[in-house]
Amino acid sequence: MSSPASPRSTWSNRWAFILVTIGSAVGLGNIWKFPYMAGSQGGSAFVAVYLICVVLIGLPLLMAEILIGRRGKGNPVSAMLNVAEETRSSPWWGIVGWVGVVGALLILSFYSVVAGWIVDYLIKSISGFRVETAEGASAAFKALLANPLEMALWHTVFLAMTVGVVARGVISGIEKANKVMMPGLFLILVLLTLWGGIAGDMGAAWDFMFAFKAHDLTPGVMLAAVGHAFFSLSLGMGAIMAYGSYLDRDSSIASTSIWVAMAGTLVGLLAGLAIFSLTFAQGLEPAAGPGLILQTLPLAFSHMPGGQGFAIFFFTLVLFAAWTSAISLVEPFVAWLTERLGIRRPLAAWGTAAAVWILGIAVCLSFNIWSGYTLFGLNLFELLDFLTSRIMMPLSGLAIALFVGWAMGRHSVVDEMQLQGKAFEAWYRILRYLAPLAILLVFFHALGWLG
Ligand code: PFF
Repeated sequence: MSSPASPRSTWSNRWAFILVTIGSAVGLGNIWKFPYMAGSQGGSAFVAVYLICVVLIGLPLLMAEILIGRRGKGNPVSAMLNVAEETRSSPWWGIVGWVGVVGALLILSFYSVVAGWIVDYLIKSISGFRVETAEGASAAFKALLANPLEMALWHTVFLAMTVGVVARGVISGIEKANKVMMPGLFLILVLLTLWGGIAGDMGAAWDFMFAFKAHDLTPGVMLAAVGHAFFSLSLGMGAIMAYGSYLDRDSSIASTSIWVAMAGTLVGLLAGLAIFSLTFAQGLEPAAGPGLILQTLPLAFSHMPGGQGFAIFFFTLVLFAAWTSAISLVEPFVAWLTERLGIRRPLAAWGTAAAVWILGIAVCLSFNIWSGYTLFGLNLFELLDFLTSRIMMPLSGLAIALFVGWAMGRHSVVDEMQLQGKAFEAWYRILRYLAPLAILLVFFHALGWLG
């Protein structure tokens, strides 16, 4: 077994694990990506498929990923290898761990750039930034995208903040940071949603998100929704596996996962409602793409009483959400470096940051100087997003379902899951049949292989 010689850390208690896992799940995906994806991918059709995917595929996979991490007691690569060895499965399963670790770093490279935009807007809001018209809001965002130095600066700051936490360790870094930021995030979100209800157009937001229109449902929208269900629950990228490896044997994986999935989805929906209420109240288009919250919201904030305060609240909320997620993207590789190569944690963390930083700089340039370099019509930023959320995450999720459902063997799964009766059977069947089939169907359909 490739387990570490030194004893592994364990979360202080079950709630600490729930909190850090919600911290990983709730992030830019819920507050930045979800609204613009829903806005450009058919609104309620996207939301409906997304919710179905979270319950039917995301939640079972979340449980499976925690299960592997806890059983394997190691970073994602070692955890996969350890469980494969214990259950006499092929060591090739270790590749799944690698896809996760590498995928997480690829995500972090553009995640940190987007989080950098948020830091930029937070600082601007504090110094009284206002935009009067939609054109002004879009010009301000375009000016940021056109300025690689400004973007690189905030990307560097955000990455340093993230890695600084991971370098301090699992309990005194990751757990502590989440214990401070997550309650703050919930509080700010509730305030903002209330405000969206008072100052915005909640009715229009509700219709846009929940009045289901079947004709908007296309294979492309379905793949986007499946991909987003994975992204928003942090699945398939080793983050959950790494966090699960620090979970003690007494905590129930099933109920813990239900908490995480419910809280993550709720935060996403609340953020969506708040953001669309303000967007529609200003008569703005929800399909603005990745710049959506950075164009519509500053405009909304500028036109409302107390707007500056709310802008500061809002960007702080997004920053906390992004920060706790980014931390979970760094941990899998840092854990591998410390456990497998014996590198000290601070060095491992800062070394990882250096590699991600370089790729992030290329992402900053892909919006301006290098915007002419594209592959399949996508710039580097879009390519990294597409590769990770629409290809690596679904495939890795598929592999995890097959591993727990078929390769591990029922005995080990039952022993680790500590769940009995109908609930276990339903979960196990979903992993064996429904999840793999659904992922494959949507995947091939979207690639045009099923017509
Ligand atoms: N779930 C995070 C979000 O919604 O922003 C993003 C993420 C974190 C994806 C960690 C994958 C991951 F491993």
